[in-house]
Amino acid sequence: MLQGKTVVVTGAASGIGAATAALAQSQGAQVICVDINEPANPIGRFLQADLSDQASIERLVAELPTGIDGLANIAGLPPTRPAASVLKVNLVGLKDLTTRLVPKLADGASIVNLASLAGLGWPDAKEAIKASETLQLADVEAFCRGYDIVDARSYFFSKEALIAWTMQNRWTWRDRGIRMNCVSPGPVDTPILKDFVETLGARAEEDMRTMDRPGTPADIAPVVCFLLSDGAAWIRGTNLPVDGGMYSNVLLQMNGF
Ligand code: NAI
Repeated sequence: MLQGKTVVVTGAASGIGAATAALAQSQGAQVICVDINEPANPIGRFLQADLSDQASIERLVAELPTGIDGLANIAGLPPTRPAASVLKVNLVGLKDLTTRLVPKLADGASIVNLASLAGLGWPDAKEAIKASETLQLADVEAFCRGYDIVDARSYFFSKEALIAWTMQNRWTWRDRGIRMNCVSPGPVDTPILKDFVETLGARAEEDMRTMDRPGTPADIAPVVCFLLSDGAAWIRGTNLPVDGGMYSNVLLQMNGF
């Protein structure tokens, strides 16, 4: 339960973010929704921001109150969008917002990042991930050129680096009890599911058959809310797959089972 907590949800105008905002409110949280688009069904307070834009992020941080107990970084762009935009929203802007917001977080706060099953291969991208550690929004285009991050690769890389960043920050704010985890859904039925099917083609259809069905935002939101809650206080730096068993399936196949 999130009774009495102040929770910021990015990407709250649609899909998983909208479901998380609604569930957090129903669990007793004061919800602040952030999105580039105004939500059709507003929940709590709405702050418009473009998380690919430095000035917009800085304005947002100035507008947000102190004493935030939960930050759910859910805003994201799909693999069909331009590579630099995807990397900005899904990784670099997310990290920028989070680090700027830490001083406004309450002690004991929880940060939850929406990664993806698409980030599973992060150990194979170590060099580019390390090079992206200090990447700023203004330098993303050059970084994409330098590391050949084009087309859909940008989506995969953004999630790989996000999982690594979450693990790297397992103890960064431990003295204040602030923890960070990520959730990795398999394919979820939201407006961007068609983008994944378009990008991955037959593989996506095969994945969905293996899983029995795509997920829904209602499969993901309770997991995000649990990680935001005090019940998850000793879960730190974890990547939690929520995917109908897909991650286990891939892992077993990779290891010859
Ligand atoms: P969605 O498209 O329904 O929601 C994404 C939200 O992010 C939208 O409301 C959009 O306006 C917002 N957004 C996009 N660019 C923004 C920007 N520059 N500034 C502020 N807000 C911005 O998509 P969905 O499926 O709910 O995705 C949420 C998260 O879950 C994303 O990070 C996505 O990568 C991740 N995810 C989704 C999966 C799926 O199959 N739908 C699978 C795995 C992960």
